[in-house]
Amino acid sequence: NDNAESSGTAGGDEVAANDGCDPGEQVIKFSHVTNTDKHPKGIAASLLQERINTEMDGRMCMEVYPNSMLYDDDKVLEAMLLGDVQMAAPSLSKFENYTTKLRIFNFPFLFDNIDAVDRFQASSAGQSLLNSMEDKGLQGLSFWHSGMKQLSADRPLIEPTDARGLKFRVENSDVLVAVFDQLGANPQKMSFSEVYGALQTGVVDGQENSWSNIYGQKFFEVQDGITNTDHGVLDYMVVTSTRWWEGLDENDRNDLARVLAEVSTERNQAVNQLEEEARQAVADAGTEIRELTPEQRQAWVDALRPVWKRFTPDVGADTVKAAQAANQ
Ligand code: LMR
Repeated sequence: NDNAESSGTAGGDEVAANDGCDPGEQVIKFSHVTNTDKHPKGIAASLLQERINTEMDGRMCMEVYPNSMLYDDDKVLEAMLLGDVQMAAPSLSKFENYTTKLRIFNFPFLFDNIDAVDRFQASSAGQSLLNSMEDKGLQGLSFWHSGMKQLSADRPLIEPTDARGLKFRVENSDVLVAVFDQLGANPQKMSFSEVYGALQTGVVDGQENSWSNIYGQKFFEVQDGITNTDHGVLDYMVVTSTRWWEGLDENDRNDLARVLAEVSTERNQAVNQLEEEARQAVADAGTEIRELTPEQRQAWVDALRPVWKRFTPDVGADTVKAAQAANQ
């Protein structure tokens, strides 16, 4: 194959080369939305591609399409169900049309850090979430981490009341809409590829994301500063269509599952360092990073706690408990 004409991407960084699949190889199109360079998802997808194309040469061939060059996250799952793409790793906020169970990951101030997220995902409650969309034809294969979310706007955000009246871009999750409603702000669902432009032109005033996205998409350039809130998590589910997955030769499926599990473990262990490097890069660019005092942070926790109650019926009280138990 030759993707040369489509590899000039919005993100402008280097696209992992899709060198061409041989006749007879099972092609796996992997579509995602972030940059590839220094990004947890970009690196993980490229490593998965490299390993499959080496270790399963002649049987399977992965092509990676980053930077929303093939599909936005709100289109990729439909495309997967139609068989136009075989794998993706959308953020856990992007499955609203398929399950409400994943809303647990958007509860504000639920997880202390990514290590707690990792422990929850490894628990039986967490693992069962991979199967939460079976009835819709989607099969979760693995969780990939990005990082804790930080908050920014075109003015300083220190107290929860500072967000009042501002427009914030949110991912496609009703929990995130409720979070910003709770603050008296105006949330606006928007796809990832549109965020930089929307911040730049004032369509929205602020956003929330991981350090690697704030750096990778240059959001810091068009914000007043970034408040180090760690108020939520940005994490991914590697997903495929049940029909495609079950139609694979058993041997191929087992090898693919094993390679994916190994890549997931390896890259998930590296994310804390990648996020720290991205935070440092944002600071080095001259962006003000605002730290909250424990009292200030507690005010955000208290302001947002009502959101939990509203969405607990969607995810189940046991799941909330299991998630809290992972904070130790
Ligand atoms: C976002 O839309 O902000 C993120 O889900 C993008 C991503 O995939 O990291």
